[in-house]
Parts: sequence; structure tokens; C-alpha cells
Amino acid sequence: MKHNATDLISFINKEIDVIEYPNQAVTLFEPIKYILSLGGKRMRPLLSLLSVEMFGGKKEDVIYPALGLEIFHNFTLLHDDLMDNSMMRRGNPTVHIKWDDNTAILSGDAMQIIAYQFIARSKNSNLSEILNLFSITALEICEGQQYDMEFEKRNDVSEEEYLEMIRLKTAVLLGCAMKIGAIAAGASNSDADLIYTFGENIGLGFQLKDDLLDVYADSAVFGKNIGGDILNDKKTFLLINALNSAQKEDRELMRKILSSEITIEPKDKIKLFTEIYNKSGAKKSCEKKIEYFYKKAFIALDSISCSEESKSILKNYVLDLIDREK
Ligand code: IPE
Ligand code: IPE
Ligand code: MG
Ligand code: MG
Ligand code: MG
Repeated sequence: MKHNATDLISFINKEIDVIEYPNQAVTLFEPIKYILSLGGKRMRPLLSLLSVEMFGGKKEDVIYPALGLEIFHNFTLLHDDLMDNSMMRRGNPTVHIKWDDNTAILSGDAMQIIAYQFIARSKNSNLSEILNLFSITALEICEGQQYDMEFEKRNDVSEEEYLEMIRLKTAVLLGCAMKIGAIAAGASNSDADLIYTFGENIGLGFQLKDDLLDVYADSAVFGKNIGGDILNDKKTFLLINALNSAQKEDRELMRKILSSEITIEPKDKIKLFTEIYNKSGAKKSCEKKIEYFYKKAFIALDSISCSEESKSILKNYVLDLIDREK
């Protein structure tokens, strides 16, 4: 039986609620419970479950690796919030703010181990393939995060470099989540690769949208502070596009601010960059690019050898994701 996304999310949340942690060093595990209790979209485990059911498997076949992916994702958030100096996540204080930097580092480290434990609990005969894919993916995410930080200091990042950076830090995990579902269901290699491509392209669109929401969302809905990427000089698609296509005076002003030749109050910087994104067409181009990747994803999905009916739950979930506000 195939379940809809809402049912699968409740199933995931129930499983997260019953995770047990050691009784020693409770302060190591408190932040883990905290971040996991704040909700979030649960997109990565959900994609694994949608994938396994689409390919005719059962949700129980993939639940442990799926939980491992969610725990791993939440680990990256602890470290990412520290690296990005972010104060708010899912509408609540980030772990390094609520506790301290070292706590975010160490609880994050523990989460990586716990993530592996969950993935290894898979009863699947293809466990080694799943572990191998996950390990490659986890390293790629580190690479992507490294580029993300290096790009803060550079003002000549190309659109191509940006896309490769977001592919690594975000998209590969969605590809991995989908492919793990396919492997667990015993799908063919070609279908497993196609669903990976689907996830990867959804991931590219997803991160572009996250960058867009970082500028344009309602903070209360988005659960994060607005303008963080602008303040951190993140080389987002919006910024790169504006640096290439804004009017000459705007481009020069942005460059002077980015190279610290001119200093500007944080709130003024957010306002100025947002205005330039609006009038240069960067916002429009970003929206077009999001559509481009979602279309590419759906082309890959179309080639998969499952019935249209079995693809429909996944399709509907992803269509909602495109219009998300958080
Ligand atoms: C946040 O991921 C990090 C990015 C890759 C943009 P999500 O937007 O999936 O965060 P949650 O898990 O729903 O909170
Ligand atoms: C984070 O990208 C990607 C990873 C956590 C690997 P962002 O830095 O844009 O994510 P948010 O906006 O803080 O959620
Ligand atoms: Mg961040
Ligand atoms: Mg980041
Ligand atoms: Mg972001």
C-alpha cells in the first residue's frame, strides 16, 4: 500500500520521537533532542520513503537509513549555523546560541555517528551499497560547505561554480535519499540512477529557492533570519547574477561594499542588495532557474519504468515543494 506524504511524515516523526539516547553525558544529547524536536520538513527521509513505495517496496525497508539521513541533515545544520553565524532555525534559537559553540560542534559530531548507526541498522541485503553511497554523499556535502565558505571571500565566483557548490552541499543528499529508497526496493540500476538525477535536480531547485527565501521570505514562516546570506557575502545565484547584470553604478557599489572599500550598516546592506536584485532582474532569473531544474527533474522521473499512478504521490509532494514559503 502506498501512503501519502502527510502519513509518511507522521510515521517519520513517531520514529524520531522514540529514539533513545544514552543516560551518560546528557548535555551532549540534549541539543540533539532539541534540534530534532523542532520539526522541519523531514524532506530527506520522506523522499526515501516515497521512493521505496514508488518502486514497490515497503516503508519499513528503508525507515532506518531514512532516519539516519534526517539525523545527518540535522547534524549539518548544527555546524552550518555555527559557520554561518545564524541565530535562528525553525523559529527557535540555534544550538550554538542556546548552548555554545563547542556544544554545537560536539553534539554535531555525535549526530554523525548516530546517523551511521541508523543507516547500518538497515535489514537490507544491499546495505554495503547504501553505506557506500551515503559515505560518498557525506563527503561531498563537506566539500560543498567548504566551497560555500571560500566563496564568501571571493568576488569572482561564476554561476557555474555556484551551481556545483550547491549541488555538493545540498543536491546530492536529495539524490542519495531517493536512490536509497530505490536500492531498498530492488529497483533496476538504471531506475536507481534516474531517481538520483531526479533528486539532484530537485535539490538544485530547492537550494536556489532557499537562497531566494533568505532574501524574500517572511521570517516568522521561514523560521530563519532574513538577509543572512547578504550579510555573510554568500555568493548566491542572486548576487552573482546581479554582479553581472545590474546597472553599472549598482555593480560598482556592490563591488565596493563586498571588498570593504565602503562600509554600510547591516540593515542598509540588506535593503540595498534586495533592491538591486529586484531591479536588475536577478530575482526573475533565479525564479526561472528554479523552474529549469524542476523541469529537468521531471524529465528524469518520466523516464522511470513505473506506472504514472505510482509516481503521483511523489510528483504532488514535489509540486508543493516548488511553491513553499519555508
Ligand atoms: C535547510 O534544509 C538547509 C538547506 C539545504 C537549505 P531544509 O530547508 O530542508 O530544513 P528543514 O529540515 O526543513 O528545517
Ligand atoms: C546549508 O545551506 C546547506 C547545508 C546545511 C549542508 P544554507 O546555509 O543556505 O542553509 P540554511 O539557509 O542555513 O538552512
Ligand atoms: Mg546556513
Ligand atoms: Mg550555509
Ligand atoms: Mg540558506
